[in-house]
Amino acid sequence: MPQRHLIAANWKMNGLAAALPVAEAIAEIARSHASDVAIFPPATLLPLMHRVLEGTPVRLGGQDCHYMDGGAYTGDISAAQLRDAGASLVILGHSERRHGHLEPCELVARKVGAALRADLIPIVCIGETLDQRKAGKTVDVLTKQLRDSLPDDLDGREFHVSYEPVWAIGTGMIASDAQIVEAIGLIRTWLSERFPGANPNILYGGSVKPSNAAHVLKLSGVGGALVGGASLTVEEFAPIIAAGD
Ligand code: 13P
Repeated sequence: MPQRHLIAANWKMNGLAAALPVAEAIAEIARSHASDVAIFPPATLLPLMHRVLEGTPVRLGGQDCHYMDGGAYTGDISAAQLRDAGASLVILGHSERRHGHLEPCELVARKVGAALRADLIPIVCIGETLDQRKAGKTVDVLTKQLRDSLPDDLDGREFHVSYEPVWAIGTGMIASDAQIVEAIGLIRTWLSERFPGANPNILYGGSVKPSNAAHVLKLSGVGGALVGGASLTVEEFAPIIAAGD
């Protein structure tokens, strides 16, 4: 059986309660398409969106979690709290966390452990910067991020990986077909050696739009898309969901 695409909406720090009808409309569209669809709204919207999406095929996820299960960590959110608010997935190691919040791979790995303890399915993001690509370091960077961000606890558990070249995020510059296929192939090979029984979706993220989604999703090995800007409106996200069929 070919793997179903996972089409994921990463809303980042966008969206107020007024955006709930967008989630409702996405759920309606998801019903008539083959891909798995998930929305990662800001944490403040999780309980409200959970109510709107219950009984629909659309799953909910958090955008990050703390590496501890609870305690004195002002301003943070635990994996169990995300789960309690209706999430079944969590994005970890997004480049906006790795670079904006200086999160090293080892911290991402601890967060993955916390997510698994709370029964959340992690989507771990990796990707090189433009400087690293220009310096010919892409393979080394991706391999290091895989090795140091994916803990042994993932053995036998469901998880996914998203390849998101940092220079393609929010820039309108999408990676070339060859760059995507090479990176996804590297990830697939590495994962099959490290976690032989696993069957993760390997997503691509970075300037996925209605105009390029069908093309990207047909590239060899691409198991879905993690979509930022174009996931915020039904007009743009609906054709991306349809492109996964
Ligand atoms: P854009 O789709 O806005 O480039 O963002 C991609 C991303 O960061 C998904 O996690």
